[in-house]
Amino acid sequence: MKISRVIENMKPSGIREFFDLVIGMKDVISLGVGEPDFVTPWNICESAIFSLEKGYTSYTSNKGLYELRLAISKHLKNKYALSYNPDHNILITTGVSEAVDLALRAILNRGDKILIPDPSYVSYEPVSEMAGGKTILVKTSETDNFKLTPRLLKKYISKGVKAIILNYPNNPTGVSYSRKELLALSKIFVDNNLIVISDEIYDELTYDFSHTPLATLPGMKQRTIYLNGFSKAFAMTGWRVGYACGPEEIINAMTKIHQYTMLCSPIMGQLGAIEALRGSSGSVLEMKREYKRRREFIVSRLNEIGLYCAMPEGTFYVFPSIKNTGMNSVEFAKSLLYKEKVAVVPGTAFGSQGENHIRIAYASSMDNLKEATERIGHFLKNAH
Ligand SMILES: Cc1ncc(COP(=O)(O)O)c(C=O)c1O
Repeated sequence: MKISRVIENMKPSGIREFFDLVIGMKDVISLGVGEPDFVTPWNICESAIFSLEKGYTSYTSNKGLYELRLAISKHLKNKYALSYNPDHNILITTGVSEAVDLALRAILNRGDKILIPDPSYVSYEPVSEMAGGKTILVKTSETDNFKLTPRLLKKYISKGVKAIILNYPNNPTGVSYSRKELLALSKIFVDNNLIVISDEIYDELTYDFSHTPLATLPGMKQRTIYLNGFSKAFAMTGWRVGYACGPEEIINAMTKIHQYTMLCSPIMGQLGAIEALRGSSGSVLEMKREYKRRREFIVSRLNEIGLYCAMPEGTFYVFPSIKNTGMNSVEFAKSLLYKEKVAVVPGTAFGSQGENHIRIAYASSMDNLKEATERIGHFLKNAH
């Protein structure tokens, strides 16, 4: 057999698989891909253009430009009173995607158990498996808003569980955790000596309360690998810059893998990220205000037309229930695409617990959202 067994058995991403259907179709409103509809703020683009003109086209140090690590360190200190040393505790990665991979490969031995919430972001399970981990899916439920709870966690923690991946605000559900909820979870993480990979890439897009980084809670900093990046809040998906902060031992291990497999994140992206932290807070707030306005619109429209949808606290996703249509999530998404030309992602792309739900990304213009909800309303009327 030519292909490794692990890769051979790996499912393709449910999102990509679904979007292969969209390619070639005309007039589709896509509320599928999780990507800001804004372009990167101009000051960031301009700084990258200037840097190219000045000849910044080389590799950087493996850990990333010191100036960027310093800027991240200051940013986290100012925003969250979270202190990481730029020399020892911060690694710049090629997006949070790479950081997830590095974190998993750095900590897992073959067969180590790792908890992954179901539903969750599409890469966690396959990447954990590539790293040799034994994944245990924690089945969250709609009645708990798809959140981890202490009771649920206790059910899944058994001997030999080494780590857990947490993501909040959450893709695909949009829900987030209050400080109080996180405190309750963190006690369990500490008591069971778990390492937590905390993917907080949507921290800036939290609407109803302030975001609490897990690493700021008692006993958590030494066991948390904090992941964040520039793709979402700064509308910089194509720049490929993310970062991991954590204990020196883990950051060094991640750097070892990164130096052989990636070498460094592209210098233009890193320079753009420095400018993002220096002078873009106004643009971030403006985009956030717009997402919040759209969130309120889409949640109320979906409920009006008959799809129950809770108000999520963050991200640019909603995860309405389609249970009352009698269709499963793949049938619903395919039929909506063919009949009304609206693309959404079936909830099962994020795990079996996503059944009876669809993910709608509202990172799209108000006009698109109005038209898309009209079409969904029409689809529902004709479906019965
Ligand atoms: C929860 C989550 N983590 C990580 C990523 C990947 O981000 P990046 O562009 O930084 O690789 C995404 C992108 O959709 C995401 O939703």
